Amino acid sequence: MKGIVFTEFLEMTEDRFGADTVERIIEESALPSGAAYTTVGTYDHRELLRLVGQLSAATGLPVPTLVRTFGQHLFGRFTQAYPKFFNGVGSAFDFLGKIESYIHVEVRKLYPDAELPHFEYQYPGPGRMDMTYRSRCPFSDLAEGLILGCIEYFGQPIELARTNLDEGGGTAVRFSLTQRLPQR
Ligand code: HEM
Repeated sequence: MKGIVFTEFLEMTEDRFGADTVERIIEESALPSGAAYTTVGTYDHRELLRLVGQLSAATGLPVPTLVRTFGQHLFGRFTQAYPKFFNGVGSAFDFLGKIESYIHVEVRKLYPDAELPHFEYQYPGPGRMDMTYRSRCPFSDLAEGLILGCIEYFGQPIELARTNLDEGGGTAVRFSLTQRLPQR
């Protein structure tokens, strides 16, 4: 997993829970890298899971909640760091529909060793989109947070439902998005 993901996670932790918490979770996680992350370096994704586990122990918040919140935060950072992916994109469905065919393709050019998930899309009816997430890494909660961040960013009334496809292992999930109709 790229260092940028770790540095963003530690920044979010510092903003929300303070520098002491960052120091504490790094110490308790006893990481092989020593948490000396550079944005372009590559580190074992299990280090992130250890850090989140320690943050959960320190704050009493459940791991899935923390990972989802991180996904939302990360989406906000992506909007600042990668404006070109947002040029001419008018809706959350538009944006999310391009992750597999465009965004992560460009990410792969920037970071050839990135570990990226796969998405399959289905459009079951008007105002509906299903995205099936599959990965070697158990980061479906991160995907959920990123999707929520995207919905928030475009400010559209979209409901998100999730179906676990691997008995809760976090590596295969179908996300169903439904555009709510305006109330009359
Ligand atoms: C501007 C938009 C985006 C950019 C620049 C971007 C970039 C990245 C980068 C750099 C990684 C790390 C790869 C690695 O650590 O090796 C990543 C991973 C990931 N991305 Fe994206 N991404 C974007 C949008 C999204 C969105 C909207 C989703 C929502 C579903 C998503 C889902 C994921 C997930 C879940 C991972 C973690 C790795 C995995 O699950 O296998 N990305 N992305």
